[in-house]
Amino acid sequence: MFATEDTVVFFRNQFVPFKDATLTLANTGFLYGLGVFTGMRAHYNQEQDKLYLFRPADHYKRFLISCRLMRYSNFLKNFSEEKFISILKELLSKNAVREDVYIRVTNFTDEDKISPRLGQYKDAFSAFIYPLGDYVPTTGMRCKVSSWIRVEDNAIPARAKVNGAYVNTALAKAEAISLGFDEAIFLDRNGHVIEGSAENIFFVMDGKLVTPGVSDNILEGITRRSVIEMAKNLGIETIERSVDRTELYKADEIFMTGTGAKVSPVVSVDGIDVGDGLVGPVSSTIQNLYSRIVRGDEPEYMHWLVEC
Ligand SMILES: Cc1ncc(COP(=O)(O)O)c(C=O)c1O
Repeated sequence: MFATEDTVVFFRNQFVPFKDATLTLANTGFLYGLGVFTGMRAHYNQEQDKLYLFRPADHYKRFLISCRLMRYSNFLKNFSEEKFISILKELLSKNAVREDVYIRVTNFTDEDKISPRLGQYKDAFSAFIYPLGDYVPTTGMRCKVSSWIRVEDNAIPARAKVNGAYVNTALAKAEAISLGFDEAIFLDRNGHVIEGSAENIFFVMDGKLVTPGVSDNILEGITRRSVIEMAKNLGIETIERSVDRTELYKADEIFMTGTGAKVSPVVSVDGIDVGDGLVGPVSSTIQNLYSRIVRGDEPEYMHWLVEC
């Protein structure tokens, strides 16, 4: 396993050693959380000796929307989908990656100005890699409904992956961990279930999947979209609708999805077993299929992968 500190990174239009990619203490992006990001994974298939990037074009599209919101003119003018993907491929090849990695792609406010503004300052693009196995337990998470509510579209839009909004994530995650749970589940101010601290959430009810809709202050997850399509191909319908808190306690199965979390079953919420408290058959089918897809072991889904 490599150390991020030993890698080459993309920073301000060029590849440089990690230690040379630095910002000043007065950087406005750092001071106010003014940046947007996406987290992607590349998976290494040992038998095939191939590395596959998962749905980079979809990450680009979501990232572009975040950059529009933040009025990042450098990115909007100069970074096409083709350029975005070619930088990521070059990042992986320059670092000779032959293991599973998480790629952190950020576009940030790159000025040392005193006040937080949008559309008036320079912005810069960066990308670097972490080695990353499991981000959360994948054999059955114990979750807690957070006492923190999810940020709203009219406050800091969850649809955009804004750096500063992850204070909301950190508060919920810290609370859950300090109370002995694995992960937090956010509600909104009306008590509806929104998502995990960094994952979308799915319920299995009466043989169908149920998940909060895209206008419920969720991040429109790329794993979420993939799971909906995989379920459809398996003949399982997905209903997108608002979900009450008490549905957490009556669902047959629950699982969470995300680039970091992959597909991770939930076995209890607030100390109450989900179903019989074991990983259910639908969760486990989707989890197994997802892990084969991302590694290039499912011919039907190769169009989601870019070989690096
Ligand atoms: C708040 C939040 N929700 C959901 C997700 C899952 O999104 P994706 O599947 O695109 O990684 C993430 C992870 O990036 C996240 O941070």
